[in-house]
Amino acid sequence: MTERFRLDGRVAIVTGAAAGIGRVAARALAEAGAAVAMADRDGEALQQAAADLRASGASILAVEGDIASASGPEELVEATVGAFGRLDILVNNAGIYPHGPRLPEVDWEIIERTYAVDLMAPLRCISEAARRMTPGSAIVNVSSMESLRPSGPGNAHYSSAKAALNAVTRAAAVDLGPLGVRVNAVLPGLIHTEGTSHVPEAFLQHVAGRTPCGRIGEPDDIASAIVFLASPAATYVNGQCLVVDGGITIAG
Ligand SMILES: NC(=O)c1ccc[n+]([C@@H]2O[C@H](COP(=O)([O-])OP(=O)(O)OC[C@H]3O[C@@H](n4cnc5c(N)ncnc54)[C@H](O)[C@@H]3O)[C@@H](O)[C@H]2O)c1
Repeated sequence: MTERFRLDGRVAIVTGAAAGIGRVAARALAEAGAAVAMADRDGEALQQAAADLRASGASILAVEGDIASASGPEELVEATVGAFGRLDILVNNAGIYPHGPRLPEVDWEIIERTYAVDLMAPLRCISEAARRMTPGSAIVNVSSMESLRPSGPGNAHYSSAKAALNAVTRAAAVDLGPLGVRVNAVLPGLIHTEGTSHVPEAFLQHVAGRTPCGRIGEPDDIASAIVFLASPAATYVNGQCLVVDGGITIAG
């Protein structure tokens, strides 16, 4: 049975792989046997993260660039197929979650940038990747529990971008099913990452106290779900949005 969780011989892309959930997901996919193309706009952090994984024997390609640029997704997919000869797994992880003003104030720059990175880029990556994928391939979108329930004010741009990503997940599962490509999403709760390092300790404690599992999430918690959804073990799981939040969404 454990063989069904292995990814030997598979080739994966992880966007936003230089830090946080993406870096740990890249490591987890490599440990499961996949060759991994790590993509990020932060070149220095990317080279360091790639070097760390190579040192443990993994097959790693580092691709630097802004995934929200018009040519970024196509260049990433072509570089991956050029280096490894195929593409089986896409993890759309790169995302931003800038805090915005509370409505009725709006900051259109924040809204447009968030939509570009968190919604348009994954959609472009899905389109480019699906052209190269063969039956048995899998796409995992990293959404957020914020798509189901905002955790506070000033989040309309992020909540709506991730809610649309959930909808893209389901629609893409319908479109790509006949090609043998599965599409699912992971919806993390609050996770300790570089991106959330500014969150005050008091708020972390507050969230941990309201979470049935009694703690904040770690990148490994999300990486495990990503590996499962990408693996043959999830071969009949399709079009799903899996909440990985220690239970806080259902606890209220
Ligand atoms: N950390 C959380 O609490 C949390 C909760 C729910 C959802 N998420 C989602 O998980 C994903 C990862 O979050 P994280 O906390 O690990 O983030 P992070 O900020 O710690 O790391 C994100 C990485 O993505 C890269 N990146 C950002 N924009 C990019 C772009 N346009 N092109 C290329 N690379 C880009 C960054 O350089 C960075 O290396 C995001 O989609 C986020 O919305 C995070």
